[in-house]
Amino acid sequence: MSVKINENYLLLESSYLFAEISRRVEKFQTENPDAQVIKMGIGDVTKPLPKAVIKAFNEAVTEMGNSETFMGYGPEQGYSFLIDTIIENDYKSRGIELDIDEVFISDAAKCDTANIQEIFGLDNVIAVTDPVYPVYVDSNVMAGRTGSIQDSGRYEGVVYMPSTAENNFIPELPKSPVDLIYLCFPNNPTGTALKKEDLAKWVEYARENDAIILFDAAYEAYITEDDIPRSIYEIEGAKDVAIEFRSFSKNAGFTGTRCAFVVVPKQVKAVDSEGNKHDLNSLWNRRTTTKFNGVSYPVQKAAEAVYTDEAKKEIQENIDYYLENAKIIKNSMEELGLDVYGGVNSPYIWVKTPENMDSWSFFDLLLEEANVVGTPGVGFGPSGEGYLRLTAFNTLENTKEAMERISKLSL
Ligand code: MLT
Repeated sequence: MSVKINENYLLLESSYLFAEISRRVEKFQTENPDAQVIKMGIGDVTKPLPKAVIKAFNEAVTEMGNSETFMGYGPEQGYSFLIDTIIENDYKSRGIELDIDEVFISDAAKCDTANIQEIFGLDNVIAVTDPVYPVYVDSNVMAGRTGSIQDSGRYEGVVYMPSTAENNFIPELPKSPVDLIYLCFPNNPTGTALKKEDLAKWVEYARENDAIILFDAAYEAYITEDDIPRSIYEIEGAKDVAIEFRSFSKNAGFTGTRCAFVVVPKQVKAVDSEGNKHDLNSLWNRRTTTKFNGVSYPVQKAAEAVYTDEAKKEIQENIDYYLENAKIIKNSMEELGLDVYGGVNSPYIWVKTPENMDSWSFFDLLLEEANVVGTPGVGFGPSGEGYLRLTAFNTLENTKEAMERISKLSL
């Protein structure tokens, strides 16, 4: 045998967090076939696509079956009808100007946040909040930008910025120099949000230290409080230093339909080994045209319909529904005497585990005794130890049932 593997993969933990949870839940379900398991683990929505979206989706599928309207390959970056609609509704309405070639349509924020690191040199130092969406770290491990995982649960070479109850979930600016900063607000997994003045400190840091912020705004639709930016470009100067990721999954229910986008402003630049500046938009465009043939036409038509008045109304109702679930979860867990965070500007509720119980023990207890699935906080990084994440994406009935079951446990 002489074919060599990419040994960076050997540095990864054996399975992806949500795959490991599925494995454990399946095992439990096989051993307990009568148990009615309620899933509040992975952040997957339960409400169907809005009617206006389905209508547009159907019409586009019909077009595909007609020789006059059939569409073959589309632009790799996405159709202008969708990009224009996004710019108009999500950015221009908030005073943010973007050019059509600064927005790239894709099939997922997961893929975009995993792939973006490809356009950066391997010697860049990455900084992540801890806990963190595991994709940011794992994709850099696969690329060879880190060392191995330490006993602390942290990868060598990565700068972790703890985000815990002790600092009010406002991560501290890095103390050592970093190049690429992954931020996700409203945050996955803690469900907490960052006020404009706090996010502005990161933009200022990036501008002063020649760093770039990779900003994941997949949960912006859940913001209910004032003064929380929905886009990082609401902060002055951010367009020089930030790339933003957005998704139709959590707002419009596209988890099974797949559509997202990334904004790469042309003025975001990085240097080559000789110090010459290059704009990242060109690099991302080069990557996209080489590795991607675009999201399917019917899916992009469906995404365009997300912005119709009819769909917007339905989407807001769905979001309110999930936020009501979040409130129920938050109140129930508080009544049990547990410390609870998030759930106000986010579909995620971050629960401190009962005393002397670690994340996985609490996960096991909920699964075995209440048949409720959460996500152990430690799976998102060492600072997540002692927490568990619950999602508000299940149905109201299941959410109430889950809370009733948990409230009967002696914690
Ligand atoms: C989560 O549960 O953290 C998310 O659903 C994962 C994802 O969006 O990929």
